[in-house]
Amino acid sequence: MGFFITFEGPEGSGKSTQARLLAEWLRDRGVDVLLTREPGGTPVGDRIRSILLDPHLDHLSPEAEVLLFSASRAQHVRTLIRPALEAGRVVICDRYADSTYAYQGYGRGLPLEDLQAITRFATGGLKPDLTLLIDVPVEIGLRRKRGGSGKDDWNRMEQERLAYHRRVREGYLKLAEQEPQRWVILDGRTPLHELQEHIRALITQRLPLNLPPHP
Ligand code: TYD
Repeated sequence: MGFFITFEGPEGSGKSTQARLLAEWLRDRGVDVLLTREPGGTPVGDRIRSILLDPHLDHLSPEAEVLLFSASRAQHVRTLIRPALEAGRVVICDRYADSTYAYQGYGRGLPLEDLQAITRFATGGLKPDLTLLIDVPVEIGLRRKRGGSGKDDWNRMEQERLAYHRRVREGYLKLAEQEPQRWVILDGRTPLHELQEHIRALITQRLPLNLPPHP
């Protein structure tokens, strides 16, 4: 079996950049890496992603939303993630089931037991070996995400209220607290390259591969 790493965090935490830099660094060391993301990662998942992030679809019910995220995940696990792990590869996924617990559970208030049952069905019980939470205060993340562009460019998810994003962030912290052996919390305010150095050191310790000592 390979090794399954997920990156989680609120909007604008910088996790996608960190995931990409980690994948490149591991590949340079000869590690066979699959870098992927949710929602998406497969042709079916990418079609579902375009529904979920469509700024014009603002009446999607939370129940429909969670099932769409889960449908994308079910396809992703079966056609990409599990086969890669079985082939002994390292899988790095930008968001996974913990996003559903944080956003649809803590954020939107759907019952966590229902989300756990749906997730178990969608993933067949596949859990990450290691989850890196890139934590940033909500205002900082949202400001970063908006960048120089106007408010009209914000996707449907990003238009949600600040309070919702605070619940999501708190939710992540609770999830991490419940399973401390799987989660590592990192400060997303750390400068990009410094944070990547922390992540590389951590992965060198945790990965069951004979990586040369860090750095
Ligand atoms: P994306 O543009 O990929 O944002 P980010 O760069 O922050 O990952 O959009 C993904 C959005 O979907 C993001 O707002 C989080 C949300 N999401 C959920 O609400 N539930 C989920 O299960 C997943 C995977 C994502």
